[in-house]
Amino acid sequence: RLAQIGVTGLAVMGSNIARNLAHHGHTVALHNRSIGKTDALIAEHGSEGDFIRTETMEEFVAALEKPRRVLIMVKAGDATDGVIEDLANLMEPGDIIIDGGNSLYTDTIRREAAMAARGLNFVGAGISGGEEGALNGPSIMPGGPAESYESVGPLLESISAHVDGVPCCTHIGPDGSGHFVKMVHNGIEYADMQLIGEAYDLMRNVLGMPVTEIADVFRDWNTGVLDSYLIEITAEVLSQVDAATGRPLVDVIVDAAGQKGTGRWTVKSALDLGIPTTGIAEAVFARALSSSTAQRKSAQGLVAGTSTDFTPEDKAAFVEDIRKALYASKVVAYSQGFDQIKAGSEEYGWNVQPGKLATIWRGGCIIRAKFLDRIREAYDENPELPALLLAPYFRDAVETSVESWRRVIITATAAGVPVPAFASSLSYYDALRAERLPAALTQGLRDYFGAHTYLRVDKPGSFHTLWSGDRSEVEA
Ligand code: 6PG
Repeated sequence: RLAQIGVTGLAVMGSNIARNLAHHGHTVALHNRSIGKTDALIAEHGSEGDFIRTETMEEFVAALEKPRRVLIMVKAGDATDGVIEDLANLMEPGDIIIDGGNSLYTDTIRREAAMAARGLNFVGAGISGGEEGALNGPSIMPGGPAESYESVGPLLESISAHVDGVPCCTHIGPDGSGHFVKMVHNGIEYADMQLIGEAYDLMRNVLGMPVTEIADVFRDWNTGVLDSYLIEITAEVLSQVDAATGRPLVDVIVDAAGQKGTGRWTVKSALDLGIPTTGIAEAVFARALSSSTAQRKSAQGLVAGTSTDFTPEDKAAFVEDIRKALYASKVVAYSQGFDQIKAGSEEYGWNVQPGKLATIWRGGCIIRAKFLDRIREAYDENPELPALLLAPYFRDAVETSVESWRRVIITATAAGVPVPAFASSLSYYDALRAERLPAALTQGLRDYFGAHTYLRVDKPGSFHTLWSGDRSEVEA
């Protein structure tokens, strides 16, 4: 017998995806650099489905039906390049390599071109949902040639999460598009988590609420418009008590956030594309600041801290303000993320459909949320939406939250509690809706020191003021 698909790289994500494929009736060839992981998978889970154990890459490739389909689940970067090269040397034209890792989209563009030149199909697929999602249904974002989606799409759709019977997997577009949208997904994940962190910090350090009570607030929020996986697990993490000390687990975890790089990539790409993805950028910087342990230690005690004087009198009302600030900031972060996807899609000619993307993010992935249904509807109604924030539903949501949002930032600032993502999201919103921005002054300054010229509001053409001469204006 031959396998419909092979999985190489059997760490947790790889072995869970392989099991998921087997659970759906596919015969799966297994390969790992060292045989130990393959044998462990077969020993523990061999009875769950039809697996073919292979030791060498040659055996692995020979175990696959044609056109061959291989899913690579190894560490992004050099390890992925190595496996691709080994596979490509053994494969035949028409065979398909799927990279399911968190690869940088520019690597995927390069690899796709190199494989296409050898007659092979290369599918860069973003896969989200962590270990649990990989096993029970992730959200899958495959890029690459449309023809290869015809061959791998049904297989990937079968193992993806489903919402209302719709698979959380769709063809995103050519070459690096799948990994690009996965990167932005992760950026949004960073923003979501930072906003949740700020909301928690406000309840903890402005309102002085105990952790268990804050957990209850998140549990309650999860029944409304904020209903999402990350809010749900926030309640769980906050409810966890450390067995060793009896304290809330969150109080014994070191407050330095790690990052593997996808958030940083999102921000770098946003800078290159000229898209103000401020929510994600603030989240990445907040993680960096939290990890500047030595510098933080030196600063501690030097700056005035939180003062109880600023504690709002009506606790319940302030908790509601925080909820609205969180929601509005979240809308901003998603709106910015979708702007970046649109810009990336235009830059690379991918034709990514934002509505289809929102549809496959409703389930399986880390940022899955009820609210993605609203995003899908907004793009269904108007595929040319200038910004998600301007869709009637989200505009209303933000407008009705804006007073709360301002109160939260004013209070946090007065109390000395940092809210970088809440505050910059509100500034973004205020800047976006402003009739005039101080950018006019920036243009004046640029013209003064560098003769960079400016446009006028009242007539066409470029102009320059003779700043070091008689200060008359000339047409440039
Ligand atoms: C997912 C996650 C996953 C991974 C992140 C974590 O969608 O399933 O995003 O890809 O957990 O890469 O990223 P950091 O380590 O940078 O927080």
